[in-house]
Amino acid sequence: MELKGKIAVITGGASGIGLALAIRFIAEGATVVISDINGPALKEKASEIGATPIVTDVTKEEQVQALVEESTRLFGRIDLFVSNAGVAKYGDPFSAERDWDFSWHVNLMSQVYAAKYVLPQMIARGDGYLLNTASAAGLVVEFHSALYSTTKHAAVGFAEWLAASYKDAGVKVSVLCPGGVKTPMAAELPNMMKEAIDPADLADTVVKAIAKEQFMISTHEHIWQIFQMKAQDYDKYISLLGERRAYMLGLGEK
Ligand SMILES: NC(=O)c1ccc[n+]([C@@H]2O[C@H](COP(=O)([O-])OP(=O)(O)OC[C@H]3O[C@@H](n4cnc5c(N)ncnc54)[C@H](O)[C@@H]3O)[C@@H](O)[C@H]2O)c1
Repeated sequence: MELKGKIAVITGGASGIGLALAIRFIAEGATVVISDINGPALKEKASEIGATPIVTDVTKEEQVQALVEESTRLFGRIDLFVSNAGVAKYGDPFSAERDWDFSWHVNLMSQVYAAKYVLPQMIARGDGYLLNTASAAGLVVEFHSALYSTTKHAAVGFAEWLAASYKDAGVKVSVLCPGGVKTPMAAELPNMMKEAIDPADLADTVVKAIAKEQFMISTHEHIWQIFQMKAQDYDKYISLLGERRAYMLGLGEK
């Protein structure tokens, strides 16, 4: 899909990857709505970059519905909906159920709500595009947080389901699975930052992938190789994960 003349909505658009995508989409000639739970940052960034701000908490179904309805009212349609808002909350099997619920709602259910409200107009037109941000943590286990890794694996699964189910209806789907990206989210993880890429470079990769209507958008070759090895030999993958866990968590480093 070419972005020129298209209407795009991006959640989590006040910061990091979402903001970089908004800047790049506008440069490509798209009209962009950015939404975020952080109202003041959203309004500031929107006026800086020439986007329309709509404050939305994506964990609330009625707010995602309102985002879709208001964007459609303002611009007539939505060509591309980017479900990008996410949280990297720390957690493990001992975490409180509310922490699991929170991660589940931000990282997965937000994408379910978006699909629920934006798909009908795309199916009716026989045209549309969903770009769902998951993570490399949805392909290969990420050890900082079981909440993050598990919900991102679910997001990849949901994107696969959407892509295969709505292809014949003319709806394209991409899933964005970057490794580390230099944003406030990754800033707290030193070993992640060592291999992190610039959000503007990621936006460039995304625009090229959307032009090709490519389902999987990954960034870090070594993570992609681990993912391929997982498909070939799951037990080898599990045994080698220990080394990656030690590296990612900085275990044994002085
Ligand atoms: N930074 C990385 O290394 C990295 C790697 C892979 C995937 N990701 C994913 O990319 C996406 C964007 O992350 P980022 O790195 O730009 O982080 P970020 O923290 O810079 O931006 C995330 C944005 O989402 C917003 N947000 C959080 N909860 C929300 C909610 N309930 N409703 C609406 N907005 C909400 C935040 O206010 C923030 O503006 C996330 O889904 C993240 O999991 C990030």
